Amino acid sequence: MKTFIIVKPFIKKALVLSVFFMFTLTYSQSAPKKNDITPIDSAYFAKDRLKGKVVIITGGARGIGRSTAIRAAKEGASVVIADWLEKEGNATAKTIEANGGKVLFIKTDIRSTEDCNKLVAETIKKFGKLDGAVLNAGVMDGIHSGDPLDYDKQKALLPSAVDTATDEYWDFVFDVNATGTFKSMRSVLKQLLKEGKGGALVTVGSIAGLTGLAGNTAYVASKYAVNGLTKSAAIDYAPFGIRVNSVNMAATKTPMTDKAFEFVKEVKKRGITGMGGAKTESLLMLNDSKHRMSTPWEQASVILFLLSDEASNLTGGTYATDGGWTAY
Ligand SMILES: NC(=O)c1ccc[n+]([C@@H]2O[C@H](COP(=O)([O-])OP(=O)(O)OC[C@H]3O[C@@H](n4cnc5c(N)ncnc54)[C@H](O)[C@@H]3O)[C@@H](O)[C@H]2O)c1
Repeated sequence: MKTFIIVKPFIKKALVLSVFFMFTLTYSQSAPKKNDITPIDSAYFAKDRLKGKVVIITGGARGIGRSTAIRAAKEGASVVIADWLEKEGNATAKTIEANGGKVLFIKTDIRSTEDCNKLVAETIKKFGKLDGAVLNAGVMDGIHSGDPLDYDKQKALLPSAVDTATDEYWDFVFDVNATGTFKSMRSVLKQLLKEGKGGALVTVGSIAGLTGLAGNTAYVASKYAVNGLTKSAAIDYAPFGIRVNSVNMAATKTPMTDKAFEFVKEVKKRGITGMGGAKTESLLMLNDSKHRMSTPWEQASVILFLLSDEASNLTGGTYATDGGWTAY
């Protein structure tokens, strides 16, 4: 009894220590280290994946189209860049040539049937055939891609909710994104059918083609049109061995998003609610310590996979390449 009284405080201490130890162990086990995802290296490519293919890339002068064009050439494709930005288009073509790639730049406005037909005719003249296309050219607002933001002058052409949307804004965005994608797709499909050996098309939608976005009326509606076009073309051309899929990204670092963020700053300054007024980040942006956007190279990875024979069982898909934006 006497011994027990003497050792009792030690037992108590040992108990307290072991509870503390258990707590520390449990806590450290339930708090794993956070990690940012490293984007794919811009120099990465899958050797020979597109060897011998001839592909058209609309909007290939800059942004997502530029990265896709550069990597497609490294993977063995002869690349035709179609864009209405001549200086940037030629610069991208030069980069491809400097890497040892085969390339042609054709100044094209995808809103024009004549331009789209000429694009295909020039492709055949230079490379003798066509195997596929990335229909990527698009706009977010009613302003020519090369023009800088000037909020006061361009107000009527900028992204807007329905009640304040102008005809000019709606018509321009629809002419490029919906009608232009249709016209370029039509010219490409006619050639693929003529050659009779199948092919692959990748259209570029957006999260705006999978869900609504604040203050972005015409962009959202036009990107839903792109995804509708993608699905109906997949049905019509499956019998001819032509696959048609779309990619649908969230914020990806390009000149388009640089301008979009400038625009969001301007509307916030003026106390207008609209674009950027609801959800603004994908799941991966939200969890990244620097809130990193997708890179155009990450988008090129999925686009070129869908364009290549690796995707031989995929058609009619509208893939969310959106860092989890539409998952929550
Ligand atoms: N960057 C993003 O966060 C994002 C998100 C979702 C969807 N997208 C889509 O991805 C595609 C590429 O966008 P980006 O971010 O690289 O933008 P970007 O503006 O940097 O590039 C688009 C390219 O398309 C060209 N283009 C536009 N209209 C054209 C026309 N009528 N004829 C010929 N060329 C034309 C532009 O000159 C430009 O080179 C677009 O369809 C866009 O809607 C981009």
